[in-house]
Amino acid sequence: MREGAPALEVAGLGRRFGGFHALRGVSLRVERGERRAILGPNGAGKTTLFNLLSGELPPTEGAVFLFGEDVTRLSPHQRARRGLGRTYQTAHLFAELSVREHLFLAARGSRQRRTSLFSALTERPSWQRADEVAERVGLAAERGAPAAALSHGQQRQLEIGMALAGGPRQLLLDEPAAGLSQGERSTLLGLLSGLDPDITVLLIEHDMDIALEFASVVTILHEGQAVMTGSPEEVQSSEEVHALYLGAVRG
Ligand SMILES: Nc1ncnc2c1ncn2[C@@H]1O[C@H](COP(=O)(O)OP(=O)(O)OP(=O)(O)O)[C@@H](O)[C@H]1O
Ligand SMILES: [Mg+2]
Repeated sequence: MREGAPALEVAGLGRRFGGFHALRGVSLRVERGERRAILGPNGAGKTTLFNLLSGELPPTEGAVFLFGEDVTRLSPHQRARRGLGRTYQTAHLFAELSVREHLFLAARGSRQRRTSLFSALTERPSWQRADEVAERVGLAAERGAPAAALSHGQQRQLEIGMALAGGPRQLLLDEPAAGLSQGERSTLLGLLSGLDPDITVLLIEHDMDIALEFASVVTILHEGQAVMTGSPEEVQSSEEVHALYLGAVRG
């Protein structure tokens, strides 16, 4: 970790699938503790960007720096160990496992080093961590419930909990509000607003109200390129953005 380096920096980042450029020439600098929203229409490359940041996909061009360290060639696990946590656009839950078990596994996964898988030394703190995180994401009363018994909104809270269980310093959230009711959205927004201010957060969000309320900086992706980065006010008043994105989405 380099002193004073931004949480995240990408330079000339790109990803081709065959001849198709899903992402090209994306350069971003995200400061520590920043709340950044990534907006853009379907297929703009938002999830691909996250996959390149978390290491699930290798880039075909460019580099990714986490806290000043070049992590471009590191695995998702190695990046997680350096403080990167993420959620996925589609649910990654096991229907029959309880809230507490999900959080335990997420906490334990992040603690494992040279200790054995079943070492009591690693287990107890992970159960404690699971309970703390359940409380943190508003699921203390549902700790023993299987994931299948949770509402859609609670499932999304659990997924954020799983990303938090590893104690991330940099969090990537891929459309956590998708499919939520109005009430569930405000619960989620409360949870996001209450996150530790030291955690840097990148949020992909289609709900403009959530994105603009949450974020201090917004980046617009369009056809794989970062076409604008600015404050929520700048983005809202940009004619280019209205033409590219708001017009396209809101018709
Ligand atoms: N593994 C893959 N193989 C081939 N094409 C892919 C792959 N992953 C993504 N793409 C394509 O890359 C483009 C960007 O996809 P991506 O999922 O990053 O978009 P997105 O901005 O997250 O969209 P959405 O808002 O629908 O989630 C799309 O055209 C998609 O079909
Ligand atoms: Mg996506």
